Amino acid sequence: MQQLTGKKIILGVSGSIAAYKAVLLTRLLVQAGAEVQVLLTPAATHFVTPLTFSTLSKRPVFTEVTSDEGWNNHVELGLWADALVVAPATANTLAKLANGICDNIIAAVYLSARCPVFVAPAMDVDMWHHPSTQANVQRLLAYGNHLIPVGEGELASGLHGAGRLAEPEHITTALAAYFDRQSDLKGQKILITAGPTYEAIDPVRFLGNRSSGKMGVALAEAICARGGEVVLVLGPSALRPQMPGLEVVRVESAQEMYTAALAAFPQCHTAILAAAVADYRPATAAAEKIKKKGDTLTLELVKNPDIAAALGQQKQPHQRLVGFALETHEGEAHAREKLRRKHLDFIVLNTLQDSGAGFAVDTNKVTIFGADNKVHYFELKSKQAVAQDIINTTLVSAT
Ligand code: PMT
Repeated sequence: MQQLTGKKIILGVSGSIAAYKAVLLTRLLVQAGAEVQVLLTPAATHFVTPLTFSTLSKRPVFTEVTSDEGWNNHVELGLWADALVVAPATANTLAKLANGICDNIIAAVYLSARCPVFVAPAMDVDMWHHPSTQANVQRLLAYGNHLIPVGEGELASGLHGAGRLAEPEHITTALAAYFDRQSDLKGQKILITAGPTYEAIDPVRFLGNRSSGKMGVALAEAICARGGEVVLVLGPSALRPQMPGLEVVRVESAQEMYTAALAAFPQCHTAILAAAVADYRPATAAAEKIKKKGDTLTLELVKNPDIAAALGQQKQPHQRLVGFALETHEGEAHAREKLRRKHLDFIVLNTLQDSGAGFAVDTNKVTIFGADNKVHYFELKSKQAVAQDIINTTLVSAT
């Protein structure tokens, strides 16, 4: 399984008779080329020994946050890992992880981990079906963790039913499939515009808008996390994104954004234009602060270049162009008109009529219109989840 080659995996083993299967799981992960760091809860050591795992993983095994050798830095471990797998996860461990209880090495690493977390529960059938266990599983899923479902069959108690730890081969395949999905944009270079633009009136004032850059940054981070390369042309935003594969070009005005986007586009396979670009700018920016004089002040505005339309003109057959439309009324008609006029392949409509959608908030609700007349509707979601929907619809399904 080449998807696991070089991956850093923390395997957290909690106290269940199914812990014996974690021994085979360690072996399979190591055979697949992963670096495996095993953590055992004190209860797990009653079923399996640290020596078994350290021999297979060729790394010391941690059973406590502190040990005779000192502090087993759970924060460092949480940052080191590409994935944390808790297998078996007992009812007790699920409850701890779901509720932020942090009294053992697995729980401490879980709270510090920035990587994806997989839980593979194992327990007796009635414990598994108990509403508190099910509520804890739902809570863990709501936090964005992944569940490796339990199997059904004969349990250690002699009862039959759901609650068996998934087979080690199944857990290994689930992890490989996850990393496979994560690198599905490898080899793709994508230009993203994001954030507002500021159009100078004088050295002190500007015409701007309410875009925070969150939608475009969520897209950029999601694409990089899936193995793509991104050139992010970002207007004035408080966000400071940083991750492997991400090149950030900071700009202020629409004209600067236009220059940066046109320079980057020929090297890119796709452009996704999430920026809220000012359509007009002051005809001249005063060299000095404009002083208060009469009761009114008139600014002459001139049209800014339309980045989307310019890229639409330049687009080569192998390139794809995805625009956004932020509307307050008649969203579909306006979005379809922009799709045609700017020669886009897709347009992502978000409308301020939907509460929780659009500027500055952490959520969005979008509808994606394709040049092929297909329409994709989505519910209100976090901007990170919306980014995945946009990627899946415009970059992955469309290839
Ligand atoms: O940044 P957030 O706070 O997270 O908010 C996200 C967002 C609401 C800004 C984003 O989801 C969004 O809708 N961005 C586009 C906003 C917009 O200005 O749309 P528009 O309908 O005016 O423009 C249509 C398309 O043409 C857009 O892709 C826009 O980037 C592009 N455009 C517009 C004008 C211009 N001069 N150049 C352009 O490229």
